[in-house]
Amino acid sequence: MWNHYFALCFLIAVQCCITSIGSSNVRSEILSQMMEGYDNTMQPTIDVDEPTVIGMQLSINRINSVDEIQMDITLDLVLERNWEDHRLKFDGSRINRTYMDMDPRHAGFIWIPDLFIRNEKSAEWHSVTIPNRMLRLYENGSVMFISRITVTAACPMDLFMFPFDTQKCPLILQSYAFTDEEMQYEWTEEQLDDRRHVKLSHFDITDVKFTKCATNLRGNEYFNEGRRPCLQAEFVLQRDVGYYVLEVYIPSMVLVSMSWIAFWISKNSPPARVTIGLTSVLTMATMMASLNSHLPKSSMLKAIDVWLNGCLTFVFSAFLEYAMVSVQIASTEKRKIDKIETEESECRHSYEEHQVS
Ligand SMILES: *[C@@H]1O[C@H](CO)[C@@H](O)[C@H](O)[C@H]1NC(C)=O
Ligand SMILES: *[C@@H]1O[C@H](CO)[C@@H](O)[C@H](O)[C@H]1NC(C)=O
Repeated sequence: MWNHYFALCFLIAVQCCITSIGSSNVRSEILSQMMEGYDNTMQPTIDVDEPTVIGMQLSINRINSVDEIQMDITLDLVLERNWEDHRLKFDGSRINRTYMDMDPRHAGFIWIPDLFIRNEKSAEWHSVTIPNRMLRLYENGSVMFISRITVTAACPMDLFMFPFDTQKCPLILQSYAFTDEEMQYEWTEEQLDDRRHVKLSHFDITDVKFTKCATNLRGNEYFNEGRRPCLQAEFVLQRDVGYYVLEVYIPSMVLVSMSWIAFWISKNSPPARVTIGLTSVLTMATMMASLNSHLPKSSMLKAIDVWLNGCLTFVFSAFLEYAMVSVQIASTEKRKIDKIETEESECRHSYEEHQVS
């Protein structure tokens, strides 16, 4: 009885083995047929003299940072590219699938559209534990290539309205080697439908604009070496003002009110009034310095500078008021003393005159 069971199990296992080896053999057979005479340095449409159309899709995993001093933005992106390569058609019925998912190492054997990020400062592919890429070949010759990159892109910022500002950070994807007669880029329909995961402590992404751009390699509009296919994604980032209200606006208002407390303190106790005035001025100065250490060292005026310098003026005038009061007190006292002295001397004079007479 048990022997029968074992025999049956063994047979099933062998069957499974054979089937899986069989199907993997079919796959490698398909692959080797595909690669026969395939030249991965030629784009698919080179024979028909038409541009190869590359559909692009971008999703943001994460915004790692927005740096005002360096004026750049660091994004963790998933970039999807789709194109047609008729040389990669295969007969799907042989593996009972309409597509084949490939090992990322196969990406080196097929033609991949070239791409560079025009405003990149630094970028890296992720390769833990193996390169983060996905390559799928469809039986009709469509190719889907997804890869994950982290890129730091330059983002010129206008900080005039800081911290009530909205920054627009572009990411410009362009081809280096091909002109738009040979290759075209297009945004696919459903980009960035999933923005829920994107959070940043001090910015909200309010919008992402996907546009096509027209530039040459140097980024201007003289197309003598050809117009390059170019796509632009523009991230509209709105700064979260809450942090600045809590850390700057409320403390500075409190400080200005504190400097006014000095008006209720008797003018005859200099230590108390000087301490309040001096502390307020110093605290304002420290606050301005610590805020500016996170901002670029430029002479351009920012909204927060106007506010803080206004506060500093108030605090300083309160301090100055005491200086003027004490000068006045001193002169009034001097006048009093002078008056007493003159009265005394007049008295003495009249007394002496009286005695003489
Ligand atoms: C092919 O796939 C379909 C659905 O996945 C399945 O029903 C069918 O049995 C498969 N055929 C073979 C020969 O494996
Ligand atoms: C090939 O098949 C895929 C998946 O079914 C589809 O998205 C693509 O549009 C097809 N391409 C052509 C040229 O029909």
